[in-house]
Amino acid sequence: MAEAAVVGHLVFVGMMGSGKTTVGRRVAGRLGRPFFDADDELEAVTGTSIAQWFEHGDVEGFRDAEARVLADLLARSEPAVIATGGGAVVREDTRARLRSPEVSVVWLRASPAFLAHRVLQKANKGNRPLLVDDALGTLEKLYGERRELYGEVADLIVDIEPVHRVEGKPKKKLATLVIDALAIDDSGGAPT
Ligand code: S3P
Repeated sequence: MAEAAVVGHLVFVGMMGSGKTTVGRRVAGRLGRPFFDADDELEAVTGTSIAQWFEHGDVEGFRDAEARVLADLLARSEPAVIATGGGAVVREDTRARLRSPEVSVVWLRASPAFLAHRVLQKANKGNRPLLVDDALGTLEKLYGERRELYGEVADLIVDIEPVHRVEGKPKKKLATLVIDALAIDDSGGAPT
């Protein structure tokens, strides 16, 4: 059995619509690890939906809760796969946790134009109140603010657009790319 290069948590970062949840869940299945979506955890822990947080205008409160939820997930001893919300990296304390050598971070990178096209096709806009008006303009602005922050924490950067262009099952291919690039032993999980 190959020695696993990734022994700690594996964390996905990137903008809304980049596929952190789907690819992360798939990678977790292949590795036989638990999967956590930080947005879902936040809603469960706080009893407040993402839409409500933003409706109430309490963005700082949301970022505080998000940072706490991630800190709790990263403090767990069983290695997991975690999909973060797109804005999690704006907090320095979260970035410090993600830079830890025990945590491997994958940035699913794509242009705002590509992401805008994808999120507009998707039904789960409830989780993305920031994109209700002018999705492209908002994604461009947020990407400008965040791209360096993603780069600061990433151990691996995967450009998703070329994969989406050529693959019939891009999420499956992206999961394989991540597992191969990090040389993780996936012999213990589900086959796909
Ligand atoms: C946000 C991303 C969302 C969610 C919230 C804010 C952001 O998560 O946390 O709507 O600021 O980029 P996803 O990236 O999982 O959509």
